[in-house]
Amino acid sequence: MNEHVLVTGGAGFIGTHLCSALLKRGARVTAVDSLTAGRLPALDDLQKHPRFTLIEHDITQPLDWSEPVTGVMHLASPIGPAHVRNHPVRTLQAGSSGTVNALEIARRYRARIVLASSAEVYGEPAVQPQPETYWGNVDPTGPMSGYAEAKRFLEAMAFAYRREYGVNTGIIRPFNVYGPGMLRGDRRVVAAFVEAALADGELTVQGNGVRSLCYIDDFVGALITMLDSDAPGPINLGAASGTSIADLAELVVETAGSGTVTVVPARHAEGTTRCPDITTARTVLGWAPTTSLADGIRATVEAMRATAPPARGATVEFDVPTAWLTLVPGAAKLRCEAATVGDALRWLTETHRVLAPRLLSPEGELVPWTNVFLGDTNVRDIDGLETALSDDVTLTVLPAMAGG
Ligand SMILES: NC(=O)c1ccc[n+]([C@@H]2O[C@H](COP(=O)([O-])OP(=O)(O)OC[C@H]3O[C@@H](n4cnc5c(N)ncnc54)[C@H](O)[C@@H]3O)[C@@H](O)[C@H]2O)c1
Repeated sequence: MNEHVLVTGGAGFIGTHLCSALLKRGARVTAVDSLTAGRLPALDDLQKHPRFTLIEHDITQPLDWSEPVTGVMHLASPIGPAHVRNHPVRTLQAGSSGTVNALEIARRYRARIVLASSAEVYGEPAVQPQPETYWGNVDPTGPMSGYAEAKRFLEAMAFAYRREYGVNTGIIRPFNVYGPGMLRGDRRVVAAFVEAALADGELTVQGNGVRSLCYIDDFVGALITMLDSDAPGPINLGAASGTSIADLAELVVETAGSGTVTVVPARHAEGTTRCPDITTARTVLGWAPTTSLADGIRATVEAMRATAPPARGATVEFDVPTAWLTLVPGAAKLRCEAATVGDALRWLTETHRVLAPRLLSPEGELVPWTNVFLGDTNVRDIDGLETALSDDVTLTVLPAMAGG
């Protein structure tokens, strides 16, 4: 049978690169994506290809699917602090029912399935570097725990399907993957640093954490090798040598020719060092990354510069709710200029301090009982406070709890 690969999360950063690599080698590709992380320009290019189909669907719901596939790549998951913190339930559902739905398709068609876990399964590792045999050190209840636990469930369920139903499953554990075509605004470190540098802004380094940074082209090569193999994994995929966040910030500033680096103490887990032992990837897949960090960052900076948002912020008009009119004397409409939803809300809370505890937590995040709408869309369903504003917009603030 001709190759037909179903890629869940196929409209995301890794997904779009993977889909185009699969199309290049002659496969038919179906991407299943809810588009909750946003819409990348790369998806428009993919949709021009005759062998590419996009199905807009939430994989946590069963997919009515009756076409044979030779392979399934399960990438669909919220990722990045902006999405995971705002949507811990959805994150756990993507790893649990989303994983089951993807595994069921592979089971029905006896297809190979590769599932994207994450280096976060190691939590705050007490072992450096981490081999796959290390079981990790994971907090099950913290603000980012939904992501790590979803991935641990994904791994357990993949092995359950392998043992009980004989499904040809393969688990990969990516560390930090970066490169051209990353989603803006989800606060993952490389994209956030490059965006800040290109805006001549501040790159804030929290603590002395170290990350393993793998260039997207190298990573997609590993994914395809994994698809073609029968290896069960889990297999770590990342750069064998770590880069400190401080060094990364300096490199981005130097490459972009703008921006400044500021070091502050670590809050949560930003000081964590995660670095893979990639012996298994070398021996089982014959894979190791080859792109230098300097080359990868150069390509990323150039690509993001080419798509940089306009320097001027959008004009934002706030629709102030009736319940707050006594708190904000004057007109029911307030206007400012802002590049992101977060900038607009920070302006609002600085101008009307009484609103601050109702809108933003001391950590600067949206308080749980307040919703902010951009048109009809709750910004929590897009990029939260990081949602970029390029056109003039109205933000509607909705306190969901009486007296909130
Ligand atoms: N990029 C990295 O550094 C990295 C590191 C470790 C693990 N991973 C894993 O690799 C996978 C892909 O990551 P990425 O960087 O491309 O992320 P991404 O956010 O760019 O892409 C994920 C895609 O999944 C989609 N999605 C989310 N929930 C969905 C659902 N319920 N149904 C259908 N689609 C859904 C999103 O709309 C998005 O297009 C994820 O599973 C992620 O956890 C990535």
